[in-house]
Amino acid sequence: MSQVAELTLDGKSYQFPVIEGSEKEKAIDIAKLRDQTSYITIDAGYKNTGATQSAITFLDGENGVLNYRGYSIEDLAEKASFLEVAYLLIFGELPTEKEYADFEYEIRTHTLVNEDMRKIFEGFPVNAHPMGVLSSLVSAMSAFYPDTQDSPDLTSLHIIRLLAKLPTIATWSYKKSQGHPVNYPQNDLDYCSNFLNMMFALPVGAYDVDPVVAKALNKLLILHADHEQNCSTSTVRLVGSSHANIYSSISAGISALWGPLHGGANQEVIEMLEAIKNDGGDIQKYIDMAKDKSSGFRLFGFGHRVYKNFDPRARIIKKAADDVLNKLGIKDPVLEIAQKLEKAALEDEYFVKRKLYPNVDFYSGIIYRALGIPTNMFTVMFAIGRLPGWIAQWKEMRTNKEPIGRPRQVYVGPAKRDYVAMSDR
Ligand code: SDX
Repeated sequence: MSQVAELTLDGKSYQFPVIEGSEKEKAIDIAKLRDQTSYITIDAGYKNTGATQSAITFLDGENGVLNYRGYSIEDLAEKASFLEVAYLLIFGELPTEKEYADFEYEIRTHTLVNEDMRKIFEGFPVNAHPMGVLSSLVSAMSAFYPDTQDSPDLTSLHIIRLLAKLPTIATWSYKKSQGHPVNYPQNDLDYCSNFLNMMFALPVGAYDVDPVVAKALNKLLILHADHEQNCSTSTVRLVGSSHANIYSSISAGISALWGPLHGGANQEVIEMLEAIKNDGGDIQKYIDMAKDKSSGFRLFGFGHRVYKNFDPRARIIKKAADDVLNKLGIKDPVLEIAQKLEKAALEDEYFVKRKLYPNVDFYSGIIYRALGIPTNMFTVMFAIGRLPGWIAQWKEMRTNKEPIGRPRQVYVGPAKRDYVAMSDR
């Protein structure tokens, strides 16, 4: 017998069904709440509100668990390629060899971007933030591919175009900021090597991709690939729920990710660690500032809406940071500061009481730096990693014919009043 939730309001009793997910999560289905009671619920930041039932990603915040379509992030980060994980998220199963070969071939042969997109790009100032450029150009893709009907086949072509062209577009900002010519994608390179080649190759000679760097990038992209209903994914779903095309929906997700409380945190973390280094390494000063509400300062890379334990991605990235820096023979003083800051915070009552642990953004910037990626490109890296998750969630929402998202509100403004002529105000 399925459970029900009882609610008593104004002396009347109501019952609402309880649903249970495949990992035993429970929710009260309040679809009929307003019809039956005239009441709505309020939940700032949707901390207690589920927007959908999804079969893509499972998070257990208390136990630090993250699974994509049932496969653990630890397994996938160690054993899979990023495109294999992208296929898993979008189509629901790990690909067979033939399915993978076809998918990878499709992506490899769609990496070129329409040359007219370059004309749009050339209009940006040299110091434009790469995230603003990325969200603009992804939205512009809807002008170049207007055939955004709902046919699954066409949707797949749009999916291929986004996965194939995002890395190409992403590198343009970096090349422009260096005063270097952009590089074209090379069809003989795998996904991560192609990105690194477009980022760092120069017309003056050959560029050899370091396999250690390519492997580290593959792992980082997998770790960022999806994270259930986070801010940017919820944005992609909400925009897509109006049946806006996939490019506009993903562009909105890129904009949401840019925020310093969300994906923009990885850039903030490195800037914070650099500030601590330049401030004589005074860790405690920054810990105290983070605890002082009036300072307006937060310890970037710490805390999470869902994880009230270690973010499993942070564990993997922290270990990978050590490995990559050792393999590349890099000594980064900022890593030492990060380790000291983590230790100090995890021993401080303020952070312990609020269950604030390092999140995915705390160590990722240290690896990106070691790979030669500049700080203002860190959130772009997050977007490249998160793209398959956004696509998978958009596709699930549209395939399930979910209704247009339109939250309610409680009005707290002025009561009805008559217009007053300006001369009488
Ligand atoms: C990502 O949702 C996802 O899944 C996101 C993400 C993904 O993969 O998509 O995991 C990626 O966005 C990771 C988070 C990156 N952001 C940061 O590192 C920015 C710093 N962190 C915080 O701003 C904060 O922890 C959030 C935004 C991540 C979560 O905020 P919540 O859940 O709304 O929690 P809150 O702001 O209500 O904080 C609860 C308490 C508050 O103190 P009290 O009012 O209880 O006294 O903890 C404090 C906060 O002031 N707090 C912090 C803190 N984070 C929370 N205090 C100091 N430093 C921090 N980092």
